[in-house]
Amino acid sequence: MRRVHNFNAGPAALPLAVLEQAQAELLDFHGSGMSILEMSHRSKAFDKVIGEAEQNLRELLNIPSSYKVLFQQGGASLQFAMVPLNLRPAGASADYLVNGAWGRAAFKDAQKQGKARLAGSSEATNYDRTPEQVDYDPQAAYLHFTSNETIHGVQFQQEPQPPAGVPLVCDMSSDILSRPIEVARYGLIYAGAQKNAGPAGVTLVIVNEELLARTPKDLPVMLDYRLQAEAGSMHNTPPVFAVYIVGLVLKWLKAEGGLKAMAQRNQEKATLIYRVIDQSGGFYRGHAMPKERSLMNVTFRLPSEELEATFARQAEAADLVGLKGHRSVGGIRASLYNALPVEAAQALAEFMREFQRRQG
Ligand SMILES: Cc1ncc(COP(=O)(O)O)c(C=O)c1O
Repeated sequence: MRRVHNFNAGPAALPLAVLEQAQAELLDFHGSGMSILEMSHRSKAFDKVIGEAEQNLRELLNIPSSYKVLFQQGGASLQFAMVPLNLRPAGASADYLVNGAWGRAAFKDAQKQGKARLAGSSEATNYDRTPEQVDYDPQAAYLHFTSNETIHGVQFQQEPQPPAGVPLVCDMSSDILSRPIEVARYGLIYAGAQKNAGPAGVTLVIVNEELLARTPKDLPVMLDYRLQAEAGSMHNTPPVFAVYIVGLVLKWLKAEGGLKAMAQRNQEKATLIYRVIDQSGGFYRGHAMPKERSLMNVTFRLPSEELEATFARQAEAADLVGLKGHRSVGGIRASLYNALPVEAAQALAEFMREFQRRQG
């Protein structure tokens, strides 16, 4: 069997142990005589799967009991719409901090059905940092930010501090579960699972119960957090296989020592790559400002686009795959999510040094 070093930005590497377990129990799930793909989502067996997934997420993130956990569909992109539909009362305005393409997309969607205000942006410096000048509206329905910008490789080192009474809403798609956080600081967190938490097809939403009172009465059921919470994310058929894999990933995370251990390992991996960039004498140029560069997505340029293409091609030939930068910014991007082993980062660092020796 061939397994490459997988630096894809999402869908991304999953822990090998998780894939092996899914494979081992695929045909006969826990003695049921059928696969989890074939059974009712109302079965006892699936009830246990989704219940354990929620419980383990609560343990890992230390989620207070006053928060609901939802397993939603439609990707993080649907949350760009659901957040304002549910949490911004008629006539109110919401604040957005934008430090990359995903925050910009969330802001654009929020402008469609009501008022949204740019509280800060780093567009002028091509999203190489989080916004430096911020201007918060103390009356805002919430303040939205993206903790890690997957495309630009910029990560908040700590949460922004909105004015008192303004709940913090975070798109945590590409760094959820990568480090401990204090959930109580947030009104709502959402994250597409397909980077750090599992496969595509399910989106995690963690929401303070108090905010559910804001949900308007006339929302279509699939867009209504309150109804989704009341139905335990099972108003309709949930993405059973995706929830099951998320559950396995969460068990794996616990077995690996939880989020503190993950944060340490992620720091170690990112340091390996950033060190090569910093010691390259300008051959590799990081996109993000050093103080805010991401531990999850390392973005950098080479002296020419031609060299970047050669780099990606030769890396792939050396079983280092998924390194081409996002089409909107170009360059190289190495995604170092939880499931990427330290050895993969070591292999990439070594390849980068060698590539510079040959081409620099
Ligand atoms: C930070 C962030 N937000 C949102 C999205 C969009 O996610 P989805 O494809 O699940 O809608 C992505 C996807 O890469 C992302 O990285």
